[in-house]
Amino acid sequence: MSEKYLFGNWKMYLNYEKSLALAQTVASRSSEFSGVVLGLFPSAVAFTDVTKILQQSDLVTGAQNAHWVEEGGYTGEVSMAMYRELGARYVLIGHSERRHLFHETNHEVRQKVEAALAVGLTPVICVGETEKEHAENQTALVIETQIKSAFHNIVWPEGRGLIVAYEPVWAIGSGQACDPIEVEKIHELIKKQLATLLPNKPVILYGGSVKADNVGAYINNPTIDGVLVGGGSANIDSLVAIASAMAQ
Ligand code: PGA
Repeated sequence: MSEKYLFGNWKMYLNYEKSLALAQTVASRSSEFSGVVLGLFPSAVAFTDVTKILQQSDLVTGAQNAHWVEEGGYTGEVSMAMYRELGARYVLIGHSERRHLFHETNHEVRQKVEAALAVGLTPVICVGETEKEHAENQTALVIETQIKSAFHNIVWPEGRGLIVAYEPVWAIGSGQACDPIEVEKIHELIKKQLATLLPNKPVILYGGSVKADNVGAYINNPTIDGVLVGGGSANIDSLVAIASAMAQ
């Protein structure tokens, strides 16, 4: 079986102290998670020290969000270049909480993708439909539009990873995970669309209420390359249980 991705998005769940404690424990147990590409996305305040802790293991970090301009008068923002300097490997772009709570647009998502590539980060582009769009059978249209604009006029560097996470908004933090068969259909659709845009082979993840007891149904599906986990990654027992369930 090929490697499977487990990305843990800690959102704003953990303060500095809790972030370091979780990073230390998971790093010390990393040899138990063979076959799992384990990436953690800490808050900006814990980012530097969590990254340093993980550097002693196979684990890597990514930023939860970053601005596309390299430096300047952007109060409160952190740039892609700044995260790269601290050792970030990945950056989440267009997470639904950014799109819906902070009104991030498809155009901004595209700007961030371009900036991430320019500084050497691998973007993890998040797409997904709302509950209303899902109920109105708009899922395919929404995803196609999000993908089309995220990749508009983007030249992907050869050899750079291309990661898309399908995260239905209604499945995030709700305990109501999307059925793996439904995820499979959307993943096929994303793969087909990406093939028309770029030569790079994509990694496609699922996210939304993934826990230790349902992760197997996703990772055993060949169309699903791994999972992006929020709440379930911000607690040591749950994170270790998910990573152990994925280990080969
Ligand atoms: P959840 O969040 O696992 O808490 O549903 C997933 C995400 O937002 O990436």
